[in-house]
Amino acid sequence: MCGIVGYVGRRPAAPLIFEGLQHLEYRGYDSAGIGLIKADDTFELYRNVGRVAALLECFEPRQSDSHVGIGHTRWATHGAVSVLNAHPHRSYHGDFLLVHNGVIENFKTLKSFLLEKDYAFYSDTDTEILANLIEFYYQQQATTEPASFLQAVQEALRHVQGTYGLAVLCQDCPNHLLAARNGSPLLIGIGDNEHIVASDAAAIVTYTSQVIYLRDREIALMSSDDLQICTLQSENVSAEVCTIDWSPEEAERGQHEHYMHKEIYEQAQVIVNAIRGHISDDFSSPRFGGLAPLGNRWNEIDRIVFCACGSAWHACLEAEYLIEHYAHIPVEVEYASEFRYRNAPLSKRTLVVVVSQSGETLDTLAALAEAKRRGYPVVGITNVVGSTISRETDCGIYQHAGPEIGVASTKAFTSQLCILAMLAVYLGRLRHMDYTEGVSFIQALQELPQKIEETLLLEQQISEIAQRYYQSEQFLFLGRQTLFPVALEGALKLKEIAYVYAQGYPSAEMKHGPIALVSKECPTVIFATQAAIFPKTLSNIQEIRARNGPIIMVATGEIPMDPSESEAFVIIPKTHPALQPILATIPAQFFAYHMALRRGCDVDKPRNLAKSVTVE
Ligand code: G6P
Repeated sequence: MCGIVGYVGRRPAAPLIFEGLQHLEYRGYDSAGIGLIKADDTFELYRNVGRVAALLECFEPRQSDSHVGIGHTRWATHGAVSVLNAHPHRSYHGDFLLVHNGVIENFKTLKSFLLEKDYAFYSDTDTEILANLIEFYYQQQATTEPASFLQAVQEALRHVQGTYGLAVLCQDCPNHLLAARNGSPLLIGIGDNEHIVASDAAAIVTYTSQVIYLRDREIALMSSDDLQICTLQSENVSAEVCTIDWSPEEAERGQHEHYMHKEIYEQAQVIVNAIRGHISDDFSSPRFGGLAPLGNRWNEIDRIVFCACGSAWHACLEAEYLIEHYAHIPVEVEYASEFRYRNAPLSKRTLVVVVSQSGETLDTLAALAEAKRRGYPVVGITNVVGSTISRETDCGIYQHAGPEIGVASTKAFTSQLCILAMLAVYLGRLRHMDYTEGVSFIQALQELPQKIEETLLLEQQISEIAQRYYQSEQFLFLGRQTLFPVALEGALKLKEIAYVYAQGYPSAEMKHGPIALVSKECPTVIFATQAAIFPKTLSNIQEIRARNGPIIMVATGEIPMDPSESEAFVIIPKTHPALQPILATIPAQFFAYHMALRRGCDVDKPRNLAKSVTVE
């Protein structure tokens, strides 16, 4: 949440920061601002409510002569959406401009301290307090050198409890930019006579692929040709320079009207990427080089606890069904935000797995830290190379799904489903699963991209179904077993982007409450691909029809149901049972997308949401 960009270098800063903020808009989009140091070494500051583009109402980036600046796109935490609460924040005496992503938890104590020192405040934000705290410690310094700038920030941050990604400008040091991080992602792009600070590589990749990922409690002070990284305690850090492995084009929308639409269509390729290099030489098992550090511990593990949030949590729920079925290992799936505060009894042979597209979701990071504190091995599954999860876990698997920009997860979710199905079969093959079963899974895996392409052809049909139901204000989504997580995900997509209330339930559980909602006005989407248990699902369908509830079926061709018994019938290709949820998810994604379009919603930037949730 909140996107930060900072620049110091040879180029005009304002256009680069403005464009960078547009790439980070998915992180928050209720207000935005840019602060610059002009050629005469004074600050200029522009802020507005609304999207980044609304900044153009108050300034023209190409007219600025600045080569040093910071920018921010906000997802409000402390203080309502207003110009005064938008970042950058200026310190009371005007020495500093600061942008911040995160939450300062002890803001009240710090504010009282500053009020006693005669500081006054114009905003309701925790960020303004931090700007003033830095200024207070700066004014205690003997000089106005960059070293004093650095020391003041170090001193201020030593008093801060909470999370931050920061970019700071000091008027006395007009050729310097400072960045600091604790719990909120921040990376530094290293270009030719320039440095770019950003919350995410999307704002940097156009200019350089060489980046340093700042770690918690690290501070970087940079000019165009110098970069110094140290800790809050002034220990020097020699940071590793990494290469971003995706191109600027991957973060563009191309021919698609929305990122979400583009990302739905990328799913065949995403599965190819997830599979690549992960099949054993005899084609009977998945394999994961990234899990090698766990060695033979896999054979000792008697319980797996998954922690995640949002769609990633749904993917983990799928893993529970699959791992218990194929590998006979008991699995629990925890909301990361709950796990961290629970005293969940874990045995010595428990493995913890955290799953996160961004690798930066704060609750998931906190669950990871809690598991590590208690001494458990932690495996990470993430899409973002260099993210905190990739660095803090003992080992893991990268999704290689490419940048996901649409706030509602699509390709990252199906990629997680694929990797978790592979993990289930990998563990199964280490234990009970025989060679032929392994081979048939691998065959299905290799055929999956083609079946995704066939499923994508259903878009027009699903768009027509959305046309029929787009005025409905509530939906039920039902599925049994491995299709229950798909029902949850389908309901989540509809809520997220079409603002329609939707509830996912196990099909039979519907009788215990949700059936009270069933009526002509409340359609039910039912996923049914398991022929063996279809008679039970058919009973649920009859119960809904008896109460005039419209039925939208998503099924494979082998399901013995007369299409005339439902209001809409979507037939998806059949695949291996462990992979079927991936194909069943695609119609749900299209449905939410077309419902959102017809309801006039902003598909890629739904209200109140942000893609990367870096607050608790
Ligand atoms: C937010 C996003 C969801 C995502 C969740 C977890 O709520 O809107 O799409 O599933 O965060 O994100 P993660 O990056 O940890 O997978």
